[in-house]
Amino acid sequence: MQDIWVMKDPQYPSYPTEKNADVLDLIIKTSSNPNSYVLDCFCGSGTTLKSAQLLGRNWIGIDQSEQAIKVSAKKLDSISRDIFTPKPIYEKITLF
Ligand SMILES: C[S@@+](CC[C@H](N)C(=O)[O-])C[C@H]1O[C@@H](n2cnc3c(N)ncnc32)[C@H](O)[C@@H]1O
Repeated sequence: MQDIWVMKDPQYPSYPTEKNADVLDLIIKTSSNPNSYVLDCFCGSGTTLKSAQLLGRNWIGIDQSEQAIKVSAKKLDSISRDIFTPKPIYEKITLF
């Protein structure tokens, strides 16, 4: 890989700031191992979490926006998984 990566963001994103899945795949593959944990604490539409799931990583996603969580949940629930892979758990945590 060169220092400058040319990868366009999706033309029709499901969330305004959605990133290109290829660049996220590359970052996850080069910076973690299968079964590692990937934490995205500003997960937006869940694109990074989806890449992590498809690459065999565990993941934790956080976002303050209910809309972001809805979009992420829809994206993650659409991934087919075998019977040994648990379904994601979505929890709303309210901080005071
Ligand atoms: C640039 S977007 C993330 C885009 C994401 N990587 C994607 O591909 O869709 C940033 C996200 O951070 C969330 N955010 C901003 N401040 C936050 C905070 N203090 N705690 C949690 N989430 C936050 C926003 O709601 C927004 O969804």
